[in-house]
Parts: sequence; structure tokens; C-alpha cells
Amino acid sequence: MGKLEMLGRWSPFWPVFLLGFALLIGRGAQGWSKEGHIMTCRIAQDLLGSEASEAVRNLLPHDVNGDLSALCTWPDQIRHWYKYRWTSPLHFIDTPDNDCTFGYQRDCHDQHGAEDMCVAGAIQNFTSQLLHYREGSADRRYNMTEALLFLSHFMGDIHQPMHVGFTSDEGGNTINLRWFRRKSNLHHVWDRDIILSALSDYYEKDMDLLLEAIQGNFTDGIWSSDVTSWEHCDDIHSCVTKWAGESINIACKWGYKGVEAGTTLSDDYFDSRMSIVMKRIAQGGVRLAMILNSVFGDTDEGFAAAT
Ligand SMILES: *[C@@H]1O[C@H](CO)[C@@H](O)[C@H](O)[C@H]1NC(C)=O
Ligand SMILES: *[C@@H]1O[C@H](CO)[C@@H](O)[C@H](O)[C@H]1NC(C)=O
Ligand SMILES: *[C@@H]1O[C@H](CO)[C@@H](O)[C@H](O)[C@H]1NC(C)=O
Repeated sequence: MGKLEMLGRWSPFWPVFLLGFALLIGRGAQGWSKEGHIMTCRIAQDLLGSEASEAVRNLLPHDVNGDLSALCTWPDQIRHWYKYRWTSPLHFIDTPDNDCTFGYQRDCHDQHGAEDMCVAGAIQNFTSQLLHYREGSADRRYNMTEALLFLSHFMGDIHQPMHVGFTSDEGGNTINLRWFRRKSNLHHVWDRDIILSALSDYYEKDMDLLLEAIQGNFTDGIWSSDVTSWEHCDDIHSCVTKWAGESINIACKWGYKGVEAGTTLSDDYFDSRMSIVMKRIAQGGVRLAMILNSVFGDTDEGFAAAT
């Protein structure tokens, strides 16, 4: 299976078509920028044990040479395709305005009320699909490659604080403002602008340098004693509930706080939010590795997930 096949028939018109489509019908939310998703997946892949590592390699198409991060943005690329329209609500959660909590029963549904159709439900769904991987290839109901890519992507999204945002402003998408001198919106500031400003101000626009800094901070830096608690997960349902709750809490305390439409966000906002974004990327990566190790590994440890 080639990557091109996987991405669908590529033609020079696709980008224009997709962009037009996204502007017309799409909710702007795309999840962490490609940088955020790539870093989440690289962090995770570096933490895989031998069984999970092998399973991931087996599931990836050959032409990415075993690099999971090369396809971690795939779910954003296909979300408006007819065949994958059902995945669109799986990238985020709308919570009641100004409530600042996440309730699974209350909030995890799509706009028509279909249960579990939100990023928290999607993570449970694709985690339990991947649990069938070890049963062998005979009777697989699901496409395990897609399950891996969706899980890896949605673990990034659930850690992007504004992906668990208020309903009326679509997670900050409708709050138009300026990021320094450029037009942006509050959602996009957290998806991408903060990461790009960090890259250009501190890391010579080199994502590898930023990634090393993040990894250094959880291996023996400021977060090293927190990693065990980040990874803690008894069962996948309570874990996704906790992670979404963390995001809406951060969205309220740091995302929305003091921000009004039409404002200009600059140094003060950037300086106080950058480390939060980096920590969320680290947590997403560490926890994705935890799930993959637990799903593919031979160990008895790990969590119980409904199959
Ligand atoms: C699984 O999904 C990928 C990506 O959509 C596709 O290229 C591949 O053919 C599918 N595999 C099977 C066995 O259907
Ligand atoms: C789970 O995945 C299947 C496809 O594999 C899909 O039909 C279903 O809607 C998904 N549900 C959620 C909550 O992700
Ligand atoms: C890593 O931690 C240091 C503090 O020890 C901090 O100044 C730096 O911004 C952190 N870097 C990242 C990418 O998290």
C-alpha cells in the first residue's frame, strides 16, 4: 500500500478543492498544527517497547519507513472527504459555555446527539479496535492501520486545550483576533501560532531542536517526576475523561482568560502560555506511548478497555 493510494487520488487540484471546501463547510478546528501532531507522535514512538514498536511498523505503509509521525496528520487531511465525513466530530468536544468542566455523558456527542462522537469517544473506540490486533489477521472487523492513525491523531487533539472548548464560539474558532500583527483566531493561536512563534524565537525554526528540548524536560528536566502520574491509567474511559477535563480547565484558565474578539495577543500571552503548550504536547506523546505499549505489549500491566 503506497502512501499516495492511502491519501487518495492526488491531483494538483486537491489542495485548492480541500481548502475551498474547508472554508465553506468546515469548522476551522484542525487540531494541533502539523508540527504539534508530528511532535506528539515522535515523542510517543521514541517511548515504545519492542512489541509495540514492531506492531506500529507492521501497520504503517512501507513508504513512510516506520515513521508514525509522517502520517499523524492524515485524519485532518481526510476529514472532509465524503467517505470520512463521520470522523469530523471526532476531533473535538463542545462543552457548555463558561462551565469549564467536561462531563462525558453530557458533552461527548455530535451535533445530532449521537453518543460517543467526540474526541474522547474516538480514543476509546480506536483503542479497543487495536486490542484486536493481537488476535491475528483472520477476522478483523476494522482497518488497524486507520485505527492506529486515528488514535495517534486524536491523542494529540484531546491535549490541545482549545479542542475542549465552549460551544458557542466553536472552541475559540469564531473569536477573531490578531497574533502579533497577523490575523488569527483564538483556536488557531493554540493549534499553531504559539508553536510557530516558539520555533522562530527560540529554536532556529528547527522542530528537532524543540522536540529535544521537550523530551529533555520530561526525561530529566522540570517534568521528570510527573511522568509517572501522566501515564497513570486504570481504564481508558476514566483516562479520556480526565484528559478532556484537563484541557477545558486549561482552556478556561489560560486560553479564554482575558481574551476578547478583536484584541491583539502578543508577548504577555505568548510568554505565559508557551510552556503550557509544550507540556500538553509532552503529555499527549507520553500517554499515546502508554496506550500503544499497553495495547500491543505482552505485559499484564496496563488498563482494561472494553472490546
Ligand atoms: C486500510 O486503510 C488504509 C488507509 O485508508 C488503506 O490504504 C488500506 O487499503 C486499508 N486496508 C485494508 C485491508 O482495507
Ligand atoms: C468507531 O469506529 C468506527 C469505524 O471503525 C466508526 O464507524 C464509529 O463511528 C466510530 N465511533 C467513534 C465514537 O469513534
Ligand atoms: C524546558 O524547561 C526549562 C526550565 O527548566 C524551560 O525554560 C524551557 O522553556 C522548557 N522547554 C520546553 C520546550 O518545554
